[in-house]
Amino acid sequence: MLRSTVAHILKSDESPGQVKVEGWVRTKRDSKAFSFIELNDGSCLANLQVIADATIPGYKESVVHLTTGASLSVSGKVVPSQGKGQKWEIQADEVTLLGKADDDYPLQKKGHSMEFMRSIAHLRPRSNLFGAVFRVRSRMAYSIHRFFQEKGFVYVHTPIITASDCEGAGEMFRVVTMEGEEFNVGEEEFFDKPTYLTVSGQLEGETFACALSNIYTFGPTFRAENSHTSRHAAEFWMIEPEMAFCDIEGDMDLAEEMIRFLVEDALDACEEDLSFFNKFVDKGLIERLEFVRDRSFERVTYTEAIDLLKKSGKTFEYPVDYGLNLQSEHERYLTEEHFKCPTTVYNYPKEIKPFYMRKNDDGKTVAAMDLLVPGIGEIIGGSQREERLDVLRENFEAHELDEKEYSWYVDLRRYGTVPHAGFGLGFERLLMFVTGVANIRDVIPFPRTPGSAEF
Ligand code: 4AD
Ligand code: MG
Repeated sequence: MLRSTVAHILKSDESPGQVKVEGWVRTKRDSKAFSFIELNDGSCLANLQVIADATIPGYKESVVHLTTGASLSVSGKVVPSQGKGQKWEIQADEVTLLGKADDDYPLQKKGHSMEFMRSIAHLRPRSNLFGAVFRVRSRMAYSIHRFFQEKGFVYVHTPIITASDCEGAGEMFRVVTMEGEEFNVGEEEFFDKPTYLTVSGQLEGETFACALSNIYTFGPTFRAENSHTSRHAAEFWMIEPEMAFCDIEGDMDLAEEMIRFLVEDALDACEEDLSFFNKFVDKGLIERLEFVRDRSFERVTYTEAIDLLKKSGKTFEYPVDYGLNLQSEHERYLTEEHFKCPTTVYNYPKEIKPFYMRKNDDGKTVAAMDLLVPGIGEIIGGSQREERLDVLRENFEAHELDEKEYSWYVDLRRYGTVPHAGFGLGFERLLMFVTGVANIRDVIPFPRTPGSAEF
């Protein structure tokens, strides 16, 4: 008989009848004549209640070993549940112990700290919270592909090993081969030149947009930022659409549409998991997400944003002045306190942004945009790209970059250049936003942060 998942059984309208289902014991209660087993297989948040009569085959051999964390297989009939809370339960015909759990199984009790759970990242997906997080992670990855594919965007795989620093922030991990204890650098360089793990697929993505019009990337990116914050990881996933024949307005429109689409899909498709987060992680979550789904977003220029921050009467830790970067506290003031909704800040001073952004007619600002959301701050960063060869060359000079290193990027401006724009959505920031989970380490299966690369 084909195995059923707990989700399949619990979500059935009619009883699936006779089934075989496997999973792990969450709890077990024994009475004289039978045992109640709460079975979870991670396919959904809810457990399947198993009623195992003391007379069934395998009962004596298996049931004593069925402690929390043990794995088992159950064959039986799905019947309407007597108890409250779920529609179906299973009346077991046979219970087989697959693997018992040693007494020191760490997930016996509820209420472990998030820090402790990180130390058992190999077991934490078996908990309610992390099971829910990683189901939502999977769904959001699917929804992102659906969003773009339904719009006809082409998925492009940009390289993970690269020689160019897209963001120019010098936060790259170096890639080297080794011979014994020695690194092969200089003459011995594997790729004949220094290479790094990519910080962004954008530059390569631009080459494909300048051929296929609308493209997106979705892959891992790496940043050796030594920032110990709850929003930065050294390895994270980024979604980077790039659109030819598109300006900053179109770029901001797409970013907003995408966030709204993903939030709506999370509310629809992950209802059970989101309700769990709303109850145990972040009480305002669902209300906030519904608000984002239903309401329009705000847009302000960087210059206006600086004005608002100066007039706010708040004392910030970091200074606020034209020409300085917006810090997380500033971003959060704008989106959480001032506008109280997702807010796009655009047209930043050119000095604080990378070389590839398009210079505006004022000569001072570039067509950059950041989308800020409550609880997180920046979730998306993007821009219209500089498509004019002469201006791009000035930018290389201003940023002290060697044009020769970017000859292929320059070619796009020499052969049929077109206005184009794109952005990067931090996948984990999106997950923090839709789950209410406050630390980026807790939405990544095996997080990599400064000083930590366990598992
Ligand atoms: O703003 P960023 O640096 O933009 C770029 O990399 C552009 N090349 C994107 C583009 O235009 N194609 O990064 C984009 C997003 C940020 O808004 C943030 O959500 C996320 O990536 N991000 C991080 N997420 C987790 N940990 C980090 N260290 C991150 N750095 C950026
Ligand atoms: Mg940014």
